[in-house]
Amino acid sequence: MIKLLTMTDLHITPEGETIIGLDTFALFESTLAAAVRDHGDAKALILMGDLTHHGDVPSYRRLAAALRDLPFPVVPMLGNHDRRSAFFEVFADAPRDAHGFVQQIVDFPDHCLITLDTLDGPPYPDKHHSGRLCADRTAWLEQALNGAEGRMTLVFSHHPPFDTGIVGMDMIKMIDGPDFLDLLARYSVGHLFCGHIHRTITGSSRGVPWTMFKSPAHQGVLDLSNPDSSLSVDEPPAYGVLMLSKDQVVAHSQDVFTDVCVMADAASTLI
Ligand SMILES: [Fe+2]
Repeated sequence: MIKLLTMTDLHITPEGETIIGLDTFALFESTLAAAVRDHGDAKALILMGDLTHHGDVPSYRRLAAALRDLPFPVVPMLGNHDRRSAFFEVFADAPRDAHGFVQQIVDFPDHCLITLDTLDGPPYPDKHHSGRLCADRTAWLEQALNGAEGRMTLVFSHHPPFDTGIVGMDMIKMIDGPDFLDLLARYSVGHLFCGHIHRTITGSSRGVPWTMFKSPAHQGVLDLSNPDSSLSVDEPPAYGVLMLSKDQVVAHSQDVFTDVCVMADAASTLI
């Protein structure tokens, strides 16, 4: 059995800045401390994008400081709020593919983990938050899938390639999602994990089972008619615990209750 941890949509800000009144850095520190305390035996922690809220160097520095001295390796991914150049300025040794995208393969005897970079840019048009897996990244993914050699493949993508029914977020999903899903279905991918929505949701698309998790920071709102993609609410932070065996994937979502989680009314911020 292999245990993995996931955290998505950290949205770390520069010091002194909050999101809907929440100190996202303090929430991440508390969530991480709870995960280390209860699951220090995990094989890796996958950070599934939107590491920072503004894609700025000071926020990546805060993240790097928080990740020091962990009992497990960290696999970073990028989301729509990240910026590759600022990320590499701080995480200079982070794995990247031949085109400079933050994508990597993590091998286990019975499982092949593939983490993707769905950040659409540069350039980064203002208020553009959809994701993209361009031709170069798709070709890299296909090569990674071919290298799995009979092992179960688990794919991690910040942006979901499918609709969730949360209208505002569906408008900023992965732009080339249908082709991506076709590829995953063709290779009988064992499970797809996504972030971006800031909610725990499970389902399947074209036969591919998927799971997404809440955030250590602000959460998404289950509003199935509002086209606003910036609806956020203060609910407890959370992380994911994945239990992998040769023929099974179990995904837990664990809420964290902390005194830095100050209750507030539903408010608005871009997620
Ligand atoms: Fe986010």
